[in-house]
Amino acid sequence: KKKDPEYVIAFSQCVGSDLWRRTMLEEMKMELSLHPDAKLIYRDANNSSERQVKQVKEMLDQGIDLLIISPNEANPLTPIVEQAYNKGIPVVIIDRKISSSSYTAYVGADNYQIGKMAGEYVGSLLAGKGNIIEIMGLPGSSPAIERQKGFSKGLERFKGIKISAQIYGDWLKPNSEKQLLKFKEALTYTDLIFAHNDQMASGAKEVLQQLGLTKRIKIIGIDALPGAGGGLQMIDSKVINASMLYPTGGKEAISTAFKILGKASFDKENILPSLVIDSSNVQLMKMQWNKFSSQQQDIERQQTLLEEQRSLFDNQQFILNIIVIA
Ligand code: FRU
Repeated sequence: KKKDPEYVIAFSQCVGSDLWRRTMLEEMKMELSLHPDAKLIYRDANNSSERQVKQVKEMLDQGIDLLIISPNEANPLTPIVEQAYNKGIPVVIIDRKISSSSYTAYVGADNYQIGKMAGEYVGSLLAGKGNIIEIMGLPGSSPAIERQKGFSKGLERFKGIKISAQIYGDWLKPNSEKQLLKFKEALTYTDLIFAHNDQMASGAKEVLQQLGLTKRIKIIGIDALPGAGGGLQMIDSKVINASMLYPTGGKEAISTAFKILGKASFDKENILPSLVIDSSNVQLMKMQWNKFSSQQQDIERQQTLLEEQRSLFDNQQFILNIIVIA
């Protein structure tokens, strides 16, 4: 007979449907499989801060042992997270932040550094001269704010480079396309588009295709996901020029959660590494990924085999019991 779940972990996701966040959840589940007695409650706020506040409230009322949250926007989600934290429920923040330090641990890459890295890369890619359009994420979400600040810092020493327009694509491809189409005039003298994620970068590419401007204008994104539709593939097939790796932190969020629950030592700030990926290292990244995912498949196959063995064993025990009783 199975034991009751030891811990109930709630995960509040700001939006669950895109590839980056589906990858995050996969990573979490993989790590959770090492803790078969724990239970995960998952809610997807589908880009609405209001809905996310409501969902967190509901999960708190249900009674949970720990909250993992990626807040859609920092300010609207801060009070409910503080409320949970002050009630003594450990909170692990992942990727996007809240506006206070009332949380137990943070897991994610440094978005300011990523923006800065992008700025420095773009500065040398343009050889210190040119006009840029920046397509930013959702206003009020911490990675959009930090990436923008970091990007302008990274460009600081390139006096011949100008950011001629900044637009909000809200992290979404259709919004990025719609907003960019309002800048047809500026696009005629633009040399590069920096989008805060690869989804918006791919939207920019489609606009450039429509306008026949793909030859001259370079595109840079962020995320660099492996697999179908991910940034690595986009770099490899020259849809975009480069992308900054933005690890999801799914595995690290779960392992941090269990350290907290198990009263082991842990770090409050868990900053994940990033790097620039372009045509010079994309093959290497893809190779690494293929190796990793084939190992992952082996593990899954072994797990299935193990489960089959276990149920066979249970069956035999059952038959044995019947024989003994008889
Ligand atoms: C996915 C996403 C990523 C981006 C991150 C920022 O929902 O938009 O593309 O890097 O969120 O929080």
